[in-house]
Amino acid sequence: MKVIYDKKFKVYFGTEVLGELVQTLINKEYSSVYILVDENTEKYCLPILKPYLEKYILIRIKSGEQNKNLENATIIWNSLQQNLANRNTVLLNLGGGTLSDLGGFCAATYKRGIDFINIPTTLLAMVDASIGGKQGVDLNSYKNLIGIFKHPEQVFIYPQFIESLPNIERRNGLAEILKHALIDEKKLFDKLINNSQIDYSHIEKLIEKSTKIKIKIVNKDPYEKGLRKLLNFGHTIGHALETYSLLNNTKPLKHGEAVAIGIICESYLSYKLLSLSLEELNLIVQFIKINFDKYNSNWNVNEFIKIMQNDKKNNNSGINFTLLKKIGKAQIDCICSTEMIEESLNYYKNLEF
Ligand SMILES: NC(=O)c1ccc[n+]([C@@H]2O[C@H](COP(=O)([O-])OP(=O)(O)OC[C@H]3O[C@@H](n4cnc5c(N)ncnc54)[C@H](O)[C@@H]3O)[C@@H](O)[C@H]2O)c1
Ligand SMILES: [Zn+2]
Repeated sequence: MKVIYDKKFKVYFGTEVLGELVQTLINKEYSSVYILVDENTEKYCLPILKPYLEKYILIRIKSGEQNKNLENATIIWNSLQQNLANRNTVLLNLGGGTLSDLGGFCAATYKRGIDFINIPTTLLAMVDASIGGKQGVDLNSYKNLIGIFKHPEQVFIYPQFIESLPNIERRNGLAEILKHALIDEKKLFDKLINNSQIDYSHIEKLIEKSTKIKIKIVNKDPYEKGLRKLLNFGHTIGHALETYSLLNNTKPLKHGEAVAIGIICESYLSYKLLSLSLEELNLIVQFIKINFDKYNSNWNVNEFIKIMQNDKKNNNSGINFTLLKKIGKAQIDCICSTEMIEESLNYYKNLEF
């Protein structure tokens, strides 16, 4: 068992972390333990966790981004209240980023805050969502509009959970690993592109590297006053696309898929407006082409820009982006015109996959 980093964030990583979790529950003397699951984590992950726990109350929600909303938050709050949860209760979020964003939000607000522990079960949640203290829900499909900053009490990353994760969900995690590499570590990007096919049975090293980048950045700017905006690369267009797709498609894009498209468009903007070279742009696009499918919906650009204008990352001066100066180095607070944004969307639309 290994502690990745830092006494402050208490992120544990490795094959023996579930034993460490038990120790935490004993040491903290919680009066009751609740576990939040969705139908998939109940089926695939709870049986692995169960032998480590004596007594708990299960709260079930339906999986999927469309369920990260206030209706499901109310279901969770009701369950806590009806089972007499108190300030000494802990909520274990056993799931991906959708579940930990929602569970973390409910725990952080219930009785002005009870402890929660994240046990991420998707690659995306391991490398990104379970760490950093952003908790929240969507409102009218607008991403994370209602939320709060509160760190989980601890995070236990048990990489074996990935074994049952469908491939499509694994590659969603890859989008955030790529983002971390592009904003902070060229060496990690080189490693990614040199493996033509990612070997998910040996992904521990990638998880560790990616997690460390997230922790390093969050540690410098926990409340996103400046530097933490680096983590928004790919997400201004990515989040708008995700919202657009939730509103318009019967099978909406997943977060990671939307971020991968956002990374292409925002890399294009970086090439046009900052110093990212054409060669670097092509390397990024090539990597995404190998690992993701093309999104072919007939998107309406005006509707898109409107969604972007509602993004909480903006201030009054325009749509705010984090862009790349080069691979491994990003710049926050770049304002882009709607014409440039449209051009970047057309660049994506015209790519052949
Ligand atoms: N808070 C943050 O800092 C932060 C950062 C990045 C992303 N996010 C959020 O994370 C969400 C996306 O998270 P996600 O990609 O983990 O999706 P997710 O939580 O929706 O999980 C994806 C699917 O995988 C299933 N699943 C989970 N673990 C499994 C396992 N081990 N085996 C089989 N199936 C499993 C789930 O039931 C679900 O159907 C988005 O809402 C995004 O906004 C938050
Ligand atoms: Zn993301």
